[in-house]
Amino acid sequence: MLDLLIRNATLPDGRSEMSVAVQDGRIAEVTAGLDAPAAQTVDAQGLLLTPHFIDPHFHMDATLSYGLPRVNQSGTLLEGIALWGELKPLLKAEALIERALAYCDWAVAKGLLAIRSHVDTSDASLLAVDALLEVRRQVAPYLDLQLVAFPQDGVLRSPGGIDNLERALDKGVDVVGGIPHFERTMAEGAASVKLLCELAAARGKRVDMHCDESDDPLSRHIETLAFEAQRLGLQGRVTGSHCTSMHSMDNYYVSKLLPLIAESGVAVVSNPLINITLQGRHDSYPKRRGMTRVPELMAAGVNVAFGHDCVMDPWYGMGSGDMLEVAHMGLHVAQMTSQAGIRQCFDAVTVNAAKVFGLENYGLEAGCDASFVLLQARDPVEAIRLRATRLKVWRRGQLLAETPAATASLHLPGRAAQTGWMIPRGA
Ligand code: FE2
Repeated sequence: MLDLLIRNATLPDGRSEMSVAVQDGRIAEVTAGLDAPAAQTVDAQGLLLTPHFIDPHFHMDATLSYGLPRVNQSGTLLEGIALWGELKPLLKAEALIERALAYCDWAVAKGLLAIRSHVDTSDASLLAVDALLEVRRQVAPYLDLQLVAFPQDGVLRSPGGIDNLERALDKGVDVVGGIPHFERTMAEGAASVKLLCELAAARGKRVDMHCDESDDPLSRHIETLAFEAQRLGLQGRVTGSHCTSMHSMDNYYVSKLLPLIAESGVAVVSNPLINITLQGRHDSYPKRRGMTRVPELMAAGVNVAFGHDCVMDPWYGMGSGDMLEVAHMGLHVAQMTSQAGIRQCFDAVTVNAAKVFGLENYGLEAGCDASFVLLQARDPVEAIRLRATRLKVWRRGQLLAETPAATASLHLPGRAAQTGWMIPRGA
């Protein structure tokens, strides 16, 4: 007898009336119309069953700290970094852990079951590193948390930067981070990329750098990152995050850069909510959007995923752990409003993000982990349009979260009262 059978589901690829059979936490079979005895059977009623959401770029050490010790008045990236610098000496491990665990609860409720979080390694005490390693341990039964050693103040620019980062890796942090555009000079930035990629290669680690999070069209560290990934044989294991300077770069240069990134197997993570908020702040009008060239990167064969980056922290006062909101913003900013473009934005918070993460056994096929979400939507387009309710969230066959379907009751003059799913449906 099966542990779980989900019947009459629609899958992201459009297949309908599908049954997903689960045994021992894995998907045993995905087939049309299967009806077999199971300990639990769920009728999906034709709604969308998707592999869970993945956030490939987050800052869990800062999350839910909005207003501590004060609010970012200018709304800029640089004031956010300064504000984070004011908050760091005040951080207490217990409070940080409590906030991070609260965020993980939000995430699970939203079907977000894997998060790659950067953790600031600039402080010699490594308080945030120890705190998030503890969070990783505590959430392991229900959420995959991957940590990136992130030298927020610059690995070369800040005293003890490389030593602190290496000690974080020694403690068990998973991925090597960096922030080349924040080093003192372009040359130092390039040197930091080389140094950190060599460190990752020597330790067998993945790389994920904040890369060119700037409106400066001459911030070209993504070029060095791609070159080093190729030189060191790190193809498929390196990510450039943000890459917002590409928005402002010269088009001729980008025509050379795109194939270089594709050849190097470097993935790009864009953070639409944050990029549209923080970039272009030095502009008058017209103001740049400041998000990287998502459709052009995708067309060149680069794996592009979307991250949330921030939720209620020194940089951003909004957010709720909803990757459909991230995809929704991404498709607007990138003008990816064709049906194919919208589906690509859904992929950016699911399958593309899984590749960045290196997540194994992800997907809706026999043998994959039974980790998926039933949405109150019939397809990925409708899911993004409605930021659809996560009716049920399973991880490895275990039900982790449920949310009642969104309904409305109407009491309209001259008409009978009615209750139901009132949100207008797509064509
Ligand atoms: Fe970030």
